[in-house]
Amino acid sequence: MRLTYIAHSAFHLEADGKSVLVDPFITGNPLATVQAGDFSPQTIILTHAHNDHVGDTVEIAKRTGASVISTFELGEWLEKQGVNANYGNHGGTIDFDGGTTKMTPAWHTSTYTDGDKIVAPGVPAGQIVRFGGHSFYFAGDTCLFGDMKLIGEEGIDVAVLPIGDHFTMGPADAVRAVRLLEPRFVVPCHYNTFPAIKQDVNQFAQMVKEKTGARCLPLNPGESHEF
Ligand code: NI
Ligand code: MN
Repeated sequence: MRLTYIAHSAFHLEADGKSVLVDPFITGNPLATVQAGDFSPQTIILTHAHNDHVGDTVEIAKRTGASVISTFELGEWLEKQGVNANYGNHGGTIDFDGGTTKMTPAWHTSTYTDGDKIVAPGVPAGQIVRFGGHSFYFAGDTCLFGDMKLIGEEGIDVAVLPIGDHFTMGPADAVRAVRLLEPRFVVPCHYNTFPAIKQDVNQFAQMVKEKTGARCLPLNPGESHEF
C-alpha cells in the first residue's frame, strides 16, 4: 500500500484499487503540490472540524460520492451539505470500503467556521485506520496524553503525529508519544505550513532515532512511501 503526504495533515492512502483521503486541506494549503480535483477517493476520514483539516471535503465528497467519516456533530453538518456522512464517536469502529477506522480521544478543540460563524461544533478525534494490511494512527491535532499507551496496545505500524507545536504537541512531546505508542514507523505532520508551526524535521528524525525504537519517515509534500 502507498501513503502520500499531501502536506499539513492531509494524506492519501491507496491499496488494492481503493483510496482514502485523511484531512484533505488542499485548496489554500501553502505547501500542497496537488489539487483537490486530482483525487477521487471512496472514503474521506476527518479527525476534527477545524478548517485546516476539513479543507476540500465537501467539494470532493459531492463530486465523487465518497463516504465521509467523522465525529458526530461534524457529521451532522456534513450531511446537511449533501455529503454522504458516516459519523460515530470515540471508541467506535467504522467500516469503510477496504478498511476500518476506530476513533480515539484527542486533546484539542474542534469548530468549523464560515466567515465569522461557527457552523460545525463537536469534539476532535484520532483515527486508528486499518487499510492495505497495515495499521495507522492518525493522531490529528492533539497534545501528548498518557492514554497513547492504550492506543499503542492496539498494535500500530505507522504513527502519524503532529510536531508543529503552538496548536499541537511539538517535537519533544511527539518523541514521548512515540515511546508510548511503540510504532514501527513515525510520519511527522502539521509543521512548516504557517510561520507559527515552523520546525526542523531532520532534528525531529534524529531524536526519534536516538530515543525510540521507531524509524522516522519525514516525507516532503507530494512524496509517497510504500509499506
Ligand atoms: Ni485543529
Ligand atoms: Mn490543525
